[in-house]
Amino acid sequence: MTPIDIAIMAAGKGTRMKSRIPKVLQKLAGRPLLGHVLDTAGQLRARSVVVITGHGAIEVEAFGSSLASAGAGFDLQFARQEPQLGTGHAMQQAMPRLADDGLVVVLSGDVPLTEAATLRALIDAAGGERLALLTVTLPDPTGYGRIVRGAGGTVQRIVEHKDASEAERAITEIYSGIMAVPARLLRGWLGRLSNDNAQGEYYLTDVVAMAVAGGVPVVAHRIEDALQVAGVNSPLQLAELERAHQARQARALMEAGVRLMDPARFDLRDDARRGVRGELLCGPDVEIDVGCIFTGRVEIGEGARIGAHCCIADARIAAGAVIHPYTHIDGESAGVRVGAGALVGPFARLRPGAELGPEVHIGNFVEVKNSSLAAGAKANHLAYLGDATVGERVNYGAGSITANYDGAHKHRTVIEADAHIGSNCVLVAPVTIGAGGTVGGGSTITQDTPPGALSVARGRQVNLSGWQRPTKKPAGDGG
Ligand code: UD1
Ligand code: CA
Repeated sequence: MTPIDIAIMAAGKGTRMKSRIPKVLQKLAGRPLLGHVLDTAGQLRARSVVVITGHGAIEVEAFGSSLASAGAGFDLQFARQEPQLGTGHAMQQAMPRLADDGLVVVLSGDVPLTEAATLRALIDAAGGERLALLTVTLPDPTGYGRIVRGAGGTVQRIVEHKDASEAERAITEIYSGIMAVPARLLRGWLGRLSNDNAQGEYYLTDVVAMAVAGGVPVVAHRIEDALQVAGVNSPLQLAELERAHQARQARALMEAGVRLMDPARFDLRDDARRGVRGELLCGPDVEIDVGCIFTGRVEIGEGARIGAHCCIADARIAAGAVIHPYTHIDGESAGVRVGAGALVGPFARLRPGAELGPEVHIGNFVEVKNSSLAAGAKANHLAYLGDATVGERVNYGAGSITANYDGAHKHRTVIEADAHIGSNCVLVAPVTIGAGGTVGGGSTITQDTPPGALSVARGRQVNLSGWQRPTKKPAGDGG
């Protein structure tokens, strides 16, 4: 087997993105475009990968290095191309890093959806001694290099759109920008490129005519699926590829049995903050309503239901749980756990370290952070639980909060089993509410309460009889 070395062109500017971010770092499903291409390289078990950088080289190289240090499985190098004098010139910069015994696969950093199986077929077509081009037929081939075939249909050369005659422009089979070619052959051809063409660029595509002249067979591996070779040049194209990618993910989930109410309104993204791959693992009979966004690694147990328009990141949701619409769950690094049969939302917010036991209820406008709630505990309305340990069957009243932060440090609140916290209470941490105790509505609790007691900490009610409400002076008396 010939070792596979991959060259990824990523020096271009991407002017039409109108962005300060280098084009290959624009995100598709939360992952930079170059990250998608490097993933594909990983799937091909490449020996080495050379990324050709230019515009935004420092950022692009930093991103590539971060992936490589996370264990990409291949040797990653960079080659700077400054200035950018064309795709052939780009490959000339990469050649010193590519060994003669390898098969070079040329990819673009802005073409994210190429499937590894397609590239394997291209590699097989090259077979260690041929030049293999990945081609596709487009209804509108404007702008692309055309595949010029001779007698018997053999590939003769590629002509760039700007250099093409009227007759050549009528050809609809185009070069995708992806080829596989033995390194030793490529090296010789690249040394002979000229920039005598309409754009004054060194065209990589000129190697095709050189191969033909030198008696090296050229094969075109033509595919049907244009999405696999579609590049990103504008925000619109990026959005189109995003939808195509999401549709693929949605299809795979549905094939695994997940019920998506509408696969066109489904999103699964990487958690770019932590570099965690978007991954949705569902048990049987999971239902997901429209407009949900899943980020990072999310697990959903058997029969759980996710309502419309929920954002769920880095969380584990156990069997039978119901997440009502418009709920925001963000586990980030600490994760969020939702127990079996729990009910959450609508409009609930679960933040890092929220751990809900079985059958817990978290209702509308309730925020939970770094807190555990044991089985059957309920906080149904307008409440905050931060740094709290909440026992079984606790009922936490509407409008109540844990005052967990003293301006410098965070402190814990412990609410023991079966306690009942009335409405609008402030539990000033550190504090413990004893098991089975009741806290009267409106209390500000600053000291531990004994088990089983009624604790009330608020101003006593005063009633003044015969109180006269102020009245307005008659208008127009000048004052
Ligand atoms: C190239 C092909 C064309 C093909 C098309 C597919 C050539 C001469 N033409 O067109 O036949 O149909 O791709 O999309 O190869 N890049 C560099 N350095 C450079 C120039 C480009 O790194 O000096 C990178 C770009 O960032 C991009 C890729 O190479 O990732 C392709 O460049 P682009 O300008 O998009 O393609 P064309 O040259 O127009
Ligand atoms: Ca160009």
